[in-house]
Amino acid sequence: MRRRTDMLLAALLGVGVLSAAGCDEDMLNPMAARQPRVQNYGESDFYSDGLSMREPPAGSVPRERLVMNPGLTTGKVAGPTGDIYLTSIPVKVDRPLLELGQKRFSITCATCHGPVGDGDSIVGSQMSLRPPPSLHKYSQREPGYIFEVVTNGFGMMASYAAELPVRDRWAVVAYVRALQLSQASTLDKAPPEERARLEKEKVGP
Ligand code: HEC
Repeated sequence: MRRRTDMLLAALLGVGVLSAAGCDEDMLNPMAARQPRVQNYGESDFYSDGLSMREPPAGSVPRERLVMNPGLTTGKVAGPTGDIYLTSIPVKVDRPLLELGQKRFSITCATCHGPVGDGDSIVGSQMSLRPPPSLHKYSQREPGYIFEVVTNGFGMMASYAAELPVRDRWAVVAYVRALQLSQASTLDKAPPEERARLEKEKVGP
């Protein structure tokens, strides 16, 4: 009734009705507020059992159900007193995997954690609440833990499971390990031909 009066008034005054309409309704999606619907756990006179919430059809498989290899998909396995993080990467670590990891890390993580993972990034320098840490601080953490952080997020950091399928996530973990090793290494540990190249470029500690 109020709306009709508003509209009449607006028409009479010759101004838009928008400013007056619907302050007591869902402004973002008025259709959602107005359409017939049931509330969670509410009663229903439509279904014969009187419940508004329905059981999934028999045989439905939840998308989150873990099958076959939880270590691979969560980074941890059940131990005697709780979950244990994998201490090694459960896929074959070879050059293609590291190259995939480098690519994914550069696209997904370097924006915040920096190209070499030391937390030095333009985005990071603008984050005042809790800036992205250097990933070199986590060189003693299990690969399974890093995998879990990428999968579920951590504190202020979002999950990257949607961007990175399981294999890509392990590839990122392997590349983070490679960064940790490379940034904490000394020149004499490099193979002779690499050493010569690095010395020429004056890269490294
Ligand atoms: C949008 C910025 C952003 C991106 C992108 C990002 N992170 Fe983070 N990351 C953060 C912030 C901020 C924290 C600290 C969160 C906190 O302590 O609440 C963090 C924390 C971490 C930690 C430490 C967790 C701990 O135990 O303290 C790890 C490991 C990590 N990130 C890895 C990654 C990896 C790998 C990627 C890429 C897949 C990534 N992050 C992408 C912002 C980001």
